[in-house]
Amino acid sequence: MEQVAEAQAIAPIVCVQNMYNLAYRQDDELIDRLAEQGIAYVPYFPLGGFSPLQSSALSTVAAWLDATPMSVALAWLLHRSPNILLIPGTSSTAHLRENIAGAGLSLSDEDLAELGKIGR
Ligand SMILES: NC(=O)c1ccc[n+]([C@@H]2O[C@H](COP(=O)([O-])OP(=O)(O)OC[C@H]3O[C@@H](n4cnc5c(N)ncnc54)[C@H](OP(=O)(O)O)[C@@H]3O)[C@@H](O)[C@H]2O)c1
Repeated sequence: MEQVAEAQAIAPIVCVQNMYNLAYRQDDELIDRLAEQGIAYVPYFPLGGFSPLQSSALSTVAAWLDATPMSVALAWLLHRSPNILLIPGTSSTAHLRENIAGAGLSLSDEDLAELGKIGR
């Protein structure tokens, strides 16, 4: 947040990008504070980056929803805060379709509780 404040003293900030995903949540507080100011947050490595996320909790929720783990990981990010924008990277058309499907998933309180076990 200090870096954002420093940047805001120079120019208006509309978007911040940093590493964040289900398993790596160091920016939890920052995301909430940016949301209060109407500033977008783009998580990089939303799927874990070079080593895509693997977790039994993620696989469990994916099975409950009849979805894939990666689509659930993206749905969780979209659910996390309204200021989150996603640019998941893929070189595969099948993965692209899977990732887009994440935008259509609804997560219940039970799903969120299970996913909350990751990265805590
Ligand atoms: N600001 C920064 O310093 C910074 C640093 C890194 C990245 N970024 C940005 O963050 C965004 C995402 O980065 P990223 O692409 O490196 O990381 P990512 O989206 O977390 O992960 C991409 C990896 O996940 C795999 N993948 C994608 N969809 C999948 C699926 N449905 N099932 C299984 N594997 C899947 C991809 O392999 P396949 O090709 O086989 O699908 C690729 O290996 C990009 O916009 C990037 O420019 C920014």
